[in-house]
Amino acid sequence: MGMTVGIVGLGTMGAGIAQVCLEAGHAVVGVDGSAEARARGLETVARGLDRRVDKGRLEADARDAALARLTAAEAVAGLAECDLVVEAIAELPEAKHALFAELATVTRPDAILATNTSAISVTGIAEASGRPGRVVGLHFFNPAPVMPLVEVVRTALVEDEAYAAALAFAEGLGKEAVPCPDTPGFIVNRILVPMLNDAVRALAETGADPADVDRAMKAGAGWPMGPLALIDLIGVDVQVHASEAIAAGLGDAAYAPHPLLLEMLAEGRLGRKTGHGFHDYARP
Ligand code: 3HC
Repeated sequence: MGMTVGIVGLGTMGAGIAQVCLEAGHAVVGVDGSAEARARGLETVARGLDRRVDKGRLEADARDAALARLTAAEAVAGLAECDLVVEAIAELPEAKHALFAELATVTRPDAILATNTSAISVTGIAEASGRPGRVVGLHFFNPAPVMPLVEVVRTALVEDEAYAAALAFAEGLGKEAVPCPDTPGFIVNRILVPMLNDAVRALAETGADPADVDRAMKAGAGWPMGPLALIDLIGVDVQVHASEAIAAGLGDAAYAPHPLLLEMLAEGRLGRKTGHGFHDYARP
């Protein structure tokens, strides 16, 4: 039976997660405070579903039915009926803490509240909500409609029933649901984020061409895309925030973002989303 899923933040990740939930038969309420972001997010979801139809993976009728299950709201007050909410806003701990405190006041007491954070403490978010027994991490990977993994992050505070329901929800989306303890970067980012920083270090210290760094790691290490292209995909801002969160969480400066990434962040060279990163892109 389809559930009603709230998605807060309709950027790249929120829109991708919304698409996945719709394809699995759930109803989705997408929330974004900015009218422009809301319109853009809904358009991204529709484009993603169209892409499935073009590829022959989804019937046109099923796309229309999925779009009919998608609504948008300006504020979290629109999430009162949701069974589960996934937060996918910017990686700012204070903003997430404030949002979860608000979510706990507007959602049903039995609703599951999930964060898609890359590296911020889920326990901290759970505590800030005032309803820690219902809070989990559901960490999707970019692009969410394509990448099979969802890390299902467990805190010491979550109720067994809520965690089991979150795990079943992720499996029901057709994803590879992997249980993860709530430690900095969980599993994938604990390994991947330092590797991506090392790729930037290699670029800066060897003078190799960025395209060659990527070509080498694809052809020599079997990566589906090069590490610099991958930073451009996930966003320099996300890579910086994830590095800083893991460094702070582990108390180990070795995980800090490479200075070149901080320069790119200051210049607004964030990767695909701004049209320029290590490589140039047509604006989305
Ligand atoms: N949105 C939706 N679908 C997309 C897409 C996107 N942005 N990019 C590609 N696709 C789809 C294509 O339509 C195609 O679908 P099909 O199989 O139905 O035809 C499929 O993905 C494969 O795409 P392509 O053939 O165009 O290109 P590739 O074979 O090179 O695959 C890729 C693209 C899937 C992005 C692949 O390069 C890849 O796996 N890259 C690594 C991505 C990765 O590591 N992501 C995780 C980042 S870390 C993260 O997200 C955590 C965060 O917390 C930091």
